[in-house]
Amino acid sequence: MPTPQKTLWGGRFSASLTTDTVAFTHSIEADTRLIIYDIWGSQAHAIMLARQGIIADTDLREILRWLRKAEEDFQNGDFTLDPNKEDVHMNVESYLIENAGREFGGKLHTARSRNDQVLVDAHLYIREEILNIQRGISALCDAFLSIAKKHVDTVMPGYTHTQHAQPISLGFWATAYISMFLRDQKRLQAAYELANTNPLGACALAGTTFPIDRHLTTKLLGFDTPHEHALDVISSRDFIAETLFALSLVMANLSRISEELVYWTTYEFGMAVLDDAYSSGSSIMPQKKNADIAELTRGRTGRVYGALLDLLTNLKGLPMGYNRDFQEDKPPLWEAFDIVKACLSILPELLKTTEFKTERMAELVNANFATATELANYLVKEHQISFRESHEIVGWLVGELAQQEKTFIDWELTQSLMRQKGIDIPISQLKQILDAELALQNNQSLGGTSSNEVSRMIECFEEQLNAIAIGIYNCQTQIEDAKKETQQIVDDVLEGSTTQTDGD
Ligand code: ARG
Repeated sequence: MPTPQKTLWGGRFSASLTTDTVAFTHSIEADTRLIIYDIWGSQAHAIMLARQGIIADTDLREILRWLRKAEEDFQNGDFTLDPNKEDVHMNVESYLIENAGREFGGKLHTARSRNDQVLVDAHLYIREEILNIQRGISALCDAFLSIAKKHVDTVMPGYTHTQHAQPISLGFWATAYISMFLRDQKRLQAAYELANTNPLGACALAGTTFPIDRHLTTKLLGFDTPHEHALDVISSRDFIAETLFALSLVMANLSRISEELVYWTTYEFGMAVLDDAYSSGSSIMPQKKNADIAELTRGRTGRVYGALLDLLTNLKGLPMGYNRDFQEDKPPLWEAFDIVKACLSILPELLKTTEFKTERMAELVNANFATATELANYLVKEHQISFRESHEIVGWLVGELAQQEKTFIDWELTQSLMRQKGIDIPISQLKQILDAELALQNNQSLGGTSSNEVSRMIECFEEQLNAIAIGIYNCQTQIEDAKKETQQIVDDVLEGSTTQTDGD
């Protein structure tokens, strides 16, 4: 690392920082992701300062010229962040001062603090990442949707306690995941709304005596509203906590589907086979085909939870105002975004290419008394027996059959055991009552397994997914429009025309 030089805030200091101090305090690795947002925030701020008469048009032109160049240099690799300048904000400002001179570059930080600046960068970055995650979840829901549409009537065992419970369809199972991930979309949408507020203008913690226009920067940065209270906004990281909580639940849900894929693809279950392109082998056992992607998804979940816990712990002891502890909010958040995005980039294709073994599912659903509840329900409806008593009778029947290593399909035995309880049911009828496919269709209750209900839910979920896609599109458009508006003003100023915006 080069020898530390005097910092931009070094006026009251008589010595330079030690190399160790610089190494301990800088945030360059995490901040590199923020540079383009830092530049956009600075452009909006400078435009506003000129518009309000706080800086002159000539100052604005120089500032915007060098901010543009800083961005170009960054994209070309000619401008990299220097740890000696501590963070992205100081690096961009130093770049400006070095190139435009203190006379111009030194004016950018008027009526602004790094405390509101870092929040602007984080809000802008988080907004885009949330939309990326939402797109990934939509792709996953589409994968579940195609499974659901194909398998509305494909019977399989439904489980409770990982034991056979009642027959369900593969389509019913797939729509359960869509229903679950739609809630993730709503949580992410809520986190987005919190992130889509403008911290700029809160300054260090108290606002400013300069006549700034926070509505103008709000517009130029595509935020919905200013986050008004200066001290609150400077002290707030709950938008990050909300985001991390939403991401943690996304991972919990991805981990659950992964868990199912891991055991569905075991020899014992045999209900699914992964495509070779989405599995791994063993270095020693030639026969192995493992669900590594699912296992890694499950295994990375804890790191995202860790990020949430890290932030919550960080926040709990902090007094109002800016505290340097806040700098530590970014690395775990970045990691959480990266993990969730990586999982969502692969799981939709993995699911789409998975082969579901429907014959095996049908075999399993008939193997282990999954329709016992149907028989109990029949006794209640047709023999006027209370449910508790019919439960007892069918429980006894299952116990007897299991002891003899038989199942319901030993129809004569089933019938004669029922007769011992004084209940005579013709075998043809028993076959109907205990038929897994009929059982599935007979659950006509709202949200139940019948194909009518599953088809209805598919339609309803499709509508919700479309609404979410429109929401994502609208948010992205709001961001792009604001970016374009800011860049258009920058272009105009650089061409020497105007600093005016089209009415706000
Ligand atoms: N790197 C800092 C952070 O991430 C930026 C703000 C620094 N502000 C300050 N007063 N030291 O929080």
